[in-house]
Amino acid sequence: MKSRIKYCIANFKMNLGTKSKLSEYFKPFDKYIDTDTDSIKIIVSPPFTVINQAVDLTSKINKNIKIGAQNINENVSGAYTGEISIDMIKDCRINYVITGHSERRSIYKENNKQINAKNRALLSNNIAPIFCIGETLEQRSKNLIEKTLREQLTIGLNNISNSKLILAYEPVWAIGTGKTATAEIITDTHLMIRNILNDIGFDGQKISILYGGSVNRNNAKDLIALADVDGFLIGGASLDAKHFLDIYNIIEESI
Ligand code: PGA
Repeated sequence: MKSRIKYCIANFKMNLGTKSKLSEYFKPFDKYIDTDTDSIKIIVSPPFTVINQAVDLTSKINKNIKIGAQNINENVSGAYTGEISIDMIKDCRINYVITGHSERRSIYKENNKQINAKNRALLSNNIAPIFCIGETLEQRSKNLIEKTLREQLTIGLNNISNSKLILAYEPVWAIGTGKTATAEIITDTHLMIRNILNDIGFDGQKISILYGGSVNRNNAKDLIALADVDGFLIGGASLDAKHFLDIYNIIEESI
């Protein structure tokens, strides 16, 4: 039996960020969510523009639905035009933030050191990072998977002892492409990640590791059955509330 907490996490990216779209989105939620489960957490990460509205709406539906942010600036305050600080999201009652997402690594050139600064700042404020790692197709084809993940984990978690974080393995080639990693790849890689975590001073068995990359309601059942998969970080399929809630129910049934 798996004892780690399971997560069903939506990443809206730059979608559904208006008031009307967001309230429409949450309409089916009250019918679907089991009220008294502690072994699975559902977290929805909308754009900043509607984050307060999302917290208000979901707190009325069910306290087990949490709202996450998609990004954070690692500095406390200052001249960082366009950025959002940890104090600001704390004020919005946010307890989860995605870090290290491959889109932020590739488009906004975030490196492992900067991601480490974000992870440290979040954990020291008691906010859980949803820390994403994963290899590109090129790194996979050059047999650099372990090297890449070890670097992302070692630098990304440098000077961190708090294990309140959530990890998401998201092979870059599977994100938004419709190409889900195979059961064998996911099983091998999640095990590899747990071993690396043990090597760098964490208890690899205790940290929830999610899979992300083209998860949908058709493949979720097979993926959640894998021993080391503790839930999903979902992009495209999370934009349709019913589709996302179907995936939530698949995870719940697996517990
Ligand atoms: P996807 O995105 O589900 O659309 O592949 C996952 C992610 O970017 O976290």
